Amino acid sequence: MKDLFERIVNDKGPLGKWAEQAEGYYVFPKLEGNISNRMTFNGKNVITWSINDYLGLANHPEVRKVDAEAGVQYGLAYPMGARMMSGHTKYHEQLEKELAEFENKEAAYLVNFGYQGMVSAIDALVTKNDVIVYDMDAHACIIDGVRLHPGKRFTFQHNNIESLEKNIQRATKVAEETNGGILVISEGVFGMRGDQGKLKEIVALKEKYNFRLLVDDAHGFGTLGEDGKGTGFEQGVQDGIDVYFATFAKSMAGFGAFFAADKEIVQYLKYNMRSQMFAKSLPMPMVIGALKRLDMLRTMPELKEKLWENVHALQNGLKDQGFNIGKTNTCVTPVFLEGDIPEAMAMVNDLRENYGIFCSIVVYPVIPKGLIILRLIPTATHNLEDVKVTIEAFSAIRSKLEAGIYKRIAASMMEQKTKV
Ligand SMILES: Cc1ncc(COP(=O)(O)O)c(C=O)c1O
Repeated sequence: MKDLFERIVNDKGPLGKWAEQAEGYYVFPKLEGNISNRMTFNGKNVITWSINDYLGLANHPEVRKVDAEAGVQYGLAYPMGARMMSGHTKYHEQLEKELAEFENKEAAYLVNFGYQGMVSAIDALVTKNDVIVYDMDAHACIIDGVRLHPGKRFTFQHNNIESLEKNIQRATKVAEETNGGILVISEGVFGMRGDQGKLKEIVALKEKYNFRLLVDDAHGFGTLGEDGKGTGFEQGVQDGIDVYFATFAKSMAGFGAFFAADKEIVQYLKYNMRSQMFAKSLPMPMVIGALKRLDMLRTMPELKEKLWENVHALQNGLKDQGFNIGKTNTCVTPVFLEGDIPEAMAMVNDLRENYGIFCSIVVYPVIPKGLIILRLIPTATHNLEDVKVTIEAFSAIRSKLEAGIYKRIAASMMEQKTKV
């Protein structure tokens, strides 16, 4: 028999094994200064393209003021306890009412974290007799929610409606035997590659099959549809989404999240979602702050307009320079390049140190071997100069990548390391 920690110390996990080379720089970097288009990294001023503050609310003076005042008035502790027991307030209720109206649903329910909330909602919505059908590229919170499911589950190929239909047919057979129902789960916007979930086509399948649809719209809320109401509105199928989910962690620049659905479904979630029944309620400054942010979404269309001006400038500029930005039809802007992981690291180091550009890097195993995604998140705080500087920098690093310069840098760094 082994000591439990023996494995943990020896096998640090797929990401943990890179910690020595990556920690503090590629992972767990410290971005300092006010959240905006320019922040400080490693003592240098950089253009930040890695923060989901789509509408620029994080450091908006009106938001900062309301957050601060709510902090002074209520502190971070209030209310104490779970919603069901002692953590319920009129502000939680008001926010839920306003979110439901905004999303054109009968009711809404707040959760403390999007990730936890999604795991718990999936757990609550299905029993062992039910079948889940979900997109292969789904976010970890969906995958982990499905892991709790004691019944059958099927995946469908990413955004592939033919594959979805086949799997709904398989699910239907199972559900007929178990006398259960079917839950289909997709996303409004897939956060890595930036393509919208094909909600219109998924909803159309409801004509032929009996299933309910849960949509995670973390990146669509605030950025797509009228007033940022999300991907359901963008595609004109909000009514076909049975359970709508969005987090406050992106466009709302806060934390917390919510589900919106028919009254009876929300009522069920209130009494059966374990992440809320057995955890402390969302703190008051978050709730009051979210009310303010929601008001700004409704009344300040210029924020979303500015965001999209930047998105279009960035995406068109990259395409004009021959960059492959995949199938994005949202703000998420992936730039696809080819190279191995050490090359990718040398390239990102060059971008940060010599060009003042801070963006996220995605490599294997998240995407296939040999592919690199530099992922850019435009926000309303960026400007056209940021876009110009970034596209010039990207053109320069692509030339170096193609000339094999990063391969050589990475090889010589490895050599030096082995000498030491
Ligand atoms: C698609 C998606 N769902 C859920 C979450 C989790 O939300 P939260 O940060 O509120 O836990 C995220 C990331 O934040 C996300 O990108």
